[in-house]
Amino acid sequence: MKPSLRPSFTRPWPCIASNFSTFFFQLPTPLTHARNITQIRHRHIHSSPSPPPPPQLASSPPPLLPLFLRPPEYTTTVSDLLEWHSWAKSLAASIGSSFEDSDNGPDSTLLCRELNWLMEDVLDGSDPSLMHKAVARDDPDTIISLKADVQELYSLWKQRIDERRPFQYIVGCQHWRDLILCVREGVLIPRPETEIIVELVGDVISKDEGLREGLWADLGTGSGAIAIGIAKILGNYGRVIATDLNPVAVQVASFNVERYSLQDKIEVREGSWWEPLKGVEGKVAGLVSNPPYIPSDDISGLQAEVGRHEPRLALDGGAEGMDDLLHLCNGAASMLKPGGFFAFETNGEKQCKFLVDYMQNQLPGSFCNVNTVSDFAGILRFVTGFRNR
Ligand SMILES: C[S@@+](CC[C@H](N)C(=O)[O-])C[C@H]1O[C@@H](n2cnc3c(N)ncnc32)[C@H](O)[C@@H]1O
Repeated sequence: MKPSLRPSFTRPWPCIASNFSTFFFQLPTPLTHARNITQIRHRHIHSSPSPPPPPQLASSPPPLLPLFLRPPEYTTTVSDLLEWHSWAKSLAASIGSSFEDSDNGPDSTLLCRELNWLMEDVLDGSDPSLMHKAVARDDPDTIISLKADVQELYSLWKQRIDERRPFQYIVGCQHWRDLILCVREGVLIPRPETEIIVELVGDVISKDEGLREGLWADLGTGSGAIAIGIAKILGNYGRVIATDLNPVAVQVASFNVERYSLQDKIEVREGSWWEPLKGVEGKVAGLVSNPPYIPSDDISGLQAEVGRHEPRLALDGGAEGMDDLLHLCNGAASMLKPGGFFAFETNGEKQCKFLVDYMQNQLPGSFCNVNTVSDFAGILRFVTGFRNR
């Protein structure tokens, strides 16, 4: 998958009230978090094959099963479903641009698109056509099966609008690269720009067999997105350790790893940054991380979907947003093997430039080819480099 095929995205935390803009340089036209995810989901729905079947989970209990994986165990009449849909659509339309005006949240067009996806996820595979036929026949009493009770649908859509609960938590999944990752409260919803980290790894492993066959680590794995992306491009080579301090993330990442049958390739470990990597110091071929990097004072200005619902542990990078990034830069050289690669996501140009300068001047002799890489919108977002040989 090439970045050029993707819509142009901005930054990973774009849903920020106006006072936040003073902390960024060169703010692009704001796109909302919801809009980013909207486009990604749209693309994958039309380009990826059916999701893999639910795994036989031996070890980890499933995190709240996403709608699309649930069995279609409920039934309702076409008229009751359409009544819900019409109520939900009016609620979405009533929002107009009010969320967008207050904190760059989704407007009613985006909410209506999400409503269509909710319909897709809740209807049993064959039922959409059944429903359309019933509507065409003017037969509102036709029974259709659903993956959620209609009452639950009313409740879910109220949560979406009244509480600004993210759509991904409502349906329990996020489309990311060619994956459909389960997500739930307590775990960050993976962002489209983070896909670039997997592309960067793809580039370096295509040129260096030692990296391709080596041990990779995804620190702060969240849903397991980056680790799974890397494991898939490593193919039959290499292996991945995915770590997180948050036990909910460890559980969700384990679920996603098992859903893609990658448990032989990815080991999910709980613990803080370097602690779960004890025993592999100096042996790691590649280190990647999208750590928390939002300055603490900026969290309150985030879009409601992000600030109110996503875990603070995943967002808050301390006073300047640099606490975790600096910790990772300081420890990377002793964890990587000679010639090993690292890629870290940052908040943008200011953090990127600071880190490049820091690695060159405060950690002299440790790294080479330290560089910055832009996101889809052309904003410097990633810091990459190699441990000196
Ligand atoms: C920005 S999120 C990234 C999640 C995922 N990698 C992604 O890109 O979607 C940062 C992650 O770091 C984890 N984290 C925060 N502090 C940590 C620590 N001290 N050690 C390990 N993980 C940590 C959070 O729980 C969260 O999952």
